Parts: sequence; C-alpha cells; structure tokens
Amino acid sequence: MKKTFGLLIAVALTAITVDSKAQTVIPDDIKALLQKNACLACHNPDTRLVGPPYKEVAKKKYTDAQIVELIYDPKPEHWPGYPPMAPLKSVPKDEALKMAKWINSLDGGSKAPAKKPAAKKKA
Ligand code: HEC
Repeated sequence: MKKTFGLLIAVALTAITVDSKAQTVIPDDIKALLQKNACLACHNPDTRLVGPPYKEVAKKKYTDAQIVELIYDPKPEHWPGYPPMAPLKSVPKDEALKMAKWINSLDGGSKAPAKKPAAKKKA
C-alpha cells in the first residue's frame, strides 16, 4: 500500500515536470511515420538525442524538398559535433515529405514558406 502511494507520487511528479517543459505534441499521423521509420530513436522535436532536435532543423530554413533529400543523403557537415546520420533511402518519398513538412512547421512563429534564407530580426 505504501509502495503504491509512493509510486503514484513519483508518476504525478514526472507528469508535472514533463508538462512544464512545454514539449511539442507530435500529431498522431506524423508520429506513426516517425516511429515506423525509426526517426524517433535518434530525434526528439525539442531536445538533442543522437541527432539534432527537429526544432533546430526547422531553423535552418530548408525547403520541404531539401529535407527529403537530406533524409536520403545526409550532410553531416551541417551538424558539427554530431555523429553522421546514415542515409535512409528506404523511407517512401511521400512519407519523407510529410515528415519534412512537419519538421518545417516547428519553426515557431515564422509563417513564410521556408524558401528564403533566414531573415535576421532587427533588434
Ligand atoms: C541512427 C540515428 C538516426 C536516425 C535513425 C535518424 N537520424 Fe536524422 N540525424 C541523425 C544525426 C546524428 C544527424 C546530424 C548529423 C547529420 O546530419 O548527418 C541527423 C540529422 C537529420 C536532419 C538534418 C539534416 C541537415 O543536414 O540539416 C534531418 C532533417 C533528419 N536527421 C531527419 C531524420 C528523419 C526524418 C529520420 C527518420 C526517417 C531520421 N532523421 C533518422 C541521426 C539519426
């Protein structure tokens, strides 16, 4: 009984800690694709795992098509300090494109289509 109570508190605390970090909620259809293609083993939307957080990838302002290309043909030189990502040529193109669109949507606030290089904000 005591043990169960302690466990419940631990679970509750974990839930609160996770909540306060305002994590990105991955839409179900995208999550299914990321899981199926094993992307989540190395990527998290918000934090660094083996690979960079998708939010950081979004800041690079690639086009959706460029991200698709980078999934098939990664350029490790874009990410100094990270191990190289293996080329994932078996990912179906339509799935890669859906994931690419979603990754680009994580660039908080910028509404412009990700085509131009990042415009520097004036202070
Ligand atoms: C085994 C680990 C691993 C897996 C699995 C993996 N990645 Fe990566 N990914 C990395 C690492 C490490 C980098 C940074 C180095 C690089 O780009 O080679 C990266 C970089 C990226 C980039 C940035 C490319 C750039 O040049 O800026 C994108 C986009 C990306 N991954 C998408 C995906 C998607 C989508 C999947 C699933 C289909 C996936 N990754 C699966 C490890 C992984």
